Amino acid sequence: MKILVTYFSAEGTTRKVAEELARMIGADLFEIEPEKIYTQADINWRNPVSRCNLEKFGKKDVPVKGKIEGFDQYDTVLIGFPIWYGAAPNVVNTFCKGYDWTGKTVYAFATSGGGGIGKTAEKLDEYVNGALKVDALLVKTAEDIKNWLGL
Ligand SMILES: Cc1cc2nc3c(=O)[nH]c(=O)nc-3n(C[C@H](O)[C@H](O)[C@H](O)COP(=O)(O)O)c2cc1C
Repeated sequence: MKILVTYFSAEGTTRKVAEELARMIGADLFEIEPEKIYTQADINWRNPVSRCNLEKFGKKDVPVKGKIEGFDQYDTVLIGFPIWYGAAPNVVNTFCKGYDWTGKTVYAFATSGGGGIGKTAEKLDEYVNGALKVDALLVKTAEDIKNWLGL
């Protein structure tokens, strides 16, 4: 089983978990970075016209920097992100739309400010075309993911 760990992190919490996980299980790591990095003002959801609100409520795609080489070689892809508005951020959905997921197993791991995982897996499922299986877990540490997947 060849595993890829990918993640998006706006404020560093998910990055820490993803980096630790990749190190622990010896997996390749790819950071999902928007072409235009989020500033603090961009992610201020209290401001009705902040970037994150405009993207979310405008259902906008968020272009991603770079491309994963040899995506075909991975049969299991872990995707980490912060819960935004109860699900994966738009940039993660845009990232997923850019690849062929046929035959792959997808495990999403998310950090949050206290909210649950909700329907994150079901919502992500529509963007990972052809994936065999999609599951999601709310996590605090890399150990949580290791234990969840029995790695
Ligand atoms: C735009 C935005 C929306 C968020 N929405 C939620 C939410 O719906 N539920 C929740 O529990 N936390 C929410 N949070 C908090 C983040 O999920 C939490 O702080 C996360 O650990 C941040 O991860 P990061 O440091 O990797 O970006 C939101 C944060 C931002 C910036």
